[in-house]
Amino acid sequence: MSALERGKSLIRDTLSFEEMSEEITNVFVVLGASGDLAHKKIYPTLWDLYKNDLLPKGVVIIGYARSGITVDTIREKSTKHMKLKDVNPETVDEFWKINIYCKGSYDSDKDFKNLNEVIENSAPSKKTNRLFYLALPPSVFVPVTQCLHSQCMSKSGWNRVIVEKPFGHDLNSSNELSKHLNSLFSESQLYRIDHYLGKEMVQNLITLRFANPIFSRTWSRDNIASVTITFKEPFGTQGRGGYFDEFGIIRDVMQNHLLQVLSLVAMERPNSTSPEDIRNEKVKVLKCMPPIVLEDTVVGQYVGDPQQEGDAKLGYLDDPTVPKGSVTPTFAVCVAKINNERWDGVPFFLKCGKALNERKAEVRIQYKDAAGDIFSGETKRNELVIRVQPGEAVYLKLMMKTPGMRFDIHETELDLSYNDRYKDAVLPDAYERLILDVFVGSQMHFVRSDELAEAWRIFTPLLHELEAKKIPPIPYAYGSRGPQEADDMIYKHGFKFYGTYKWVK
Ligand code: BG6
Repeated sequence: MSALERGKSLIRDTLSFEEMSEEITNVFVVLGASGDLAHKKIYPTLWDLYKNDLLPKGVVIIGYARSGITVDTIREKSTKHMKLKDVNPETVDEFWKINIYCKGSYDSDKDFKNLNEVIENSAPSKKTNRLFYLALPPSVFVPVTQCLHSQCMSKSGWNRVIVEKPFGHDLNSSNELSKHLNSLFSESQLYRIDHYLGKEMVQNLITLRFANPIFSRTWSRDNIASVTITFKEPFGTQGRGGYFDEFGIIRDVMQNHLLQVLSLVAMERPNSTSPEDIRNEKVKVLKCMPPIVLEDTVVGQYVGDPQQEGDAKLGYLDDPTVPKGSVTPTFAVCVAKINNERWDGVPFFLKCGKALNERKAEVRIQYKDAAGDIFSGETKRNELVIRVQPGEAVYLKLMMKTPGMRFDIHETELDLSYNDRYKDAVLPDAYERLILDVFVGSQMHFVRSDELAEAWRIFTPLLHELEAKKIPPIPYAYGSRGPQEADDMIYKHGFKFYGTYKWVK
């Protein structure tokens, strides 16, 4: 059996019998089937699961949107995002045959009644499980969920609803939305996606921390000087600036992806690895965080670099879909604090930006200086780095004697790069794991409503202040490291950067 086959069968073994049973038809409804998210992520993910034989038998996929399109239109738009290498074209045709398209508006009970009939007619078995993916703009969340609830609920199987961010715009709007959703569905039916929770190295944080005393015993203010959680992208908004401008980088990446990672890095040991025990601990640590303040924040916005080619010539404000003079940040660094016994005084730097010098997402734990120096000030701080992407890795930067006759010391690393160590490993895409989790009913990697409320509590005052005062973001060149002021701020809070370490491959 090939490594891929082994990986797939392992995953298949974890699927419960009920979901795979032919007695029940599982119906996956994509609401917003004509949109970008559906073409770029949802259909390609369903295809990956289908091709790897990871979808329940007899599954039916129904796309729903307002446009008068067909399955062929969806196929045409999704194809360039699908992994089709070495695939038999017949398998692709078979995948599209399990798809149906249903046109309807987002606020008409009549149209959703029709959707319900389409679901019923498409399911050969009496029992149906229904999974509704809301790939929709927030403006229609409320009417769509109301109509779904009144017209489309399965009476014979389960109903689950996947919601994509933005979950509101600030604490109030998010609470309103949660109140609305909770009035229709139970928490166990709601799956709020944060796709960073589906990434291998993010899922690995719990094991790394709690299965290794060497880390768990050093994991506190006694040893750790700072924690940096970074997200960098080397491209700008690429014509999606109009959409991005309503949110900005703090809402787009920091308040959700980075804060989710922070909560896994900082939480206390859960009672078990059950979803509720883990989510309880995540909420607890978020509750120890005061709101982030403007003084501990640097925001930036990229400008074009005339020296470069293509997209890099254009700044954020050159994107025709961005309102003139917008002060929306495309880069931000914030210093988050956790007022509890473990972390008091340890800064958590959250850093994210678009149009930067590289693609990178990582967690960097910087340890304190070695006490009682006997190396003439030559020692550099240890760092444990968990690289989420690209190229999953965990490495520990440390000091060693320079090999040979010399007795001086130098920086090196213990390196666990997945490409070298786990050559055969199959690392599914985040969306693949998460959609599969919804089928099997595991909420471990989804955001609970109280976590969400805490996340907004931490960021809302800052967001409101930035907006009310129209704080101008600091310009930075496309393809740069971001504004110098951001580095200066983290140095001021104690991060040490030596500029001497070299990753040797
Ligand atoms: C999304 C953001 O949630 O995450 C995008 O809205 C960002 O702006 C994307 O590009 C990054 O995801 P990934 O998986 O490519 O790191």
